[in-house]
Amino acid sequence: MPSESCNVVVLLSGSGSNLQALIDSTRAAPGPARICAVIANRADAYGLQRAQAAGIPTAVLEHPGFEGREAFDAALAELIDGFSPDLVVLAGFMRILSAGFVRHYQGRLLNIHPSLLPKYKGLHTHRRALEAGDAEHGCSVHFVTEELDGGPLVVQAVLPVEPDDTVESLAQRVHHHEHQIYPLAVRWFAEGRLRLGAEGALLDAQPLPACGHLIRS
Ligand code: GRF
Repeated sequence: MPSESCNVVVLLSGSGSNLQALIDSTRAAPGPARICAVIANRADAYGLQRAQAAGIPTAVLEHPGFEGREAFDAALAELIDGFSPDLVVLAGFMRILSAGFVRHYQGRLLNIHPSLLPKYKGLHTHRRALEAGDAEHGCSVHFVTEELDGGPLVVQAVLPVEPDDTVESLAQRVHHHEHQIYPLAVRWFAEGRLRLGAEGALLDAQPLPACGHLIRS
């Protein structure tokens, strides 16, 4: 359990705007969370440059050369564990993780997903929400379990879908909300307020509702 400081390792594959939000939040309001490493599975992930600009150590582990998902995930876990993480944060890490990897980090692995889970697991969430004619859309932070995009919810940001929304405009607004709720969830965890209990996520020792803590705009 993190006490005075909480070592956070961030995994990403792309732009890393959520990483940037985490960096900015830990700077604007210092707390126990300390991003001690950023690991990418692609050498060209722009998030690596964001980390370097912030003075955070980076590492790259690419899957060619590994025989299968388990072998890659074992090497990834070894790399992560070298940074003694209290929390591992998936921030646009575009790989399906093996069951063994997920179990190893049970209760200390968070993900952000651009939909109001359990709706729209997987890809193309904004398009699917528009095609379904949903009145509301949003994003979710959840503990990671073996079910893809299926673990206990921590916090969701809910926003209205506007009549003239396109996939791009909706994605942009959802992204903006991701940048609010991920730092919040990481801060809760680092402060020891957020835990994964046997029945689901707990905040301040109280069970969160199935949808997590809801933030509406
Ligand atoms: C976000 O939309 C997040 O919800 C999803 O991957 C995307 C990462 O975006 N898991 P960025 O790289 O943080 O900008």
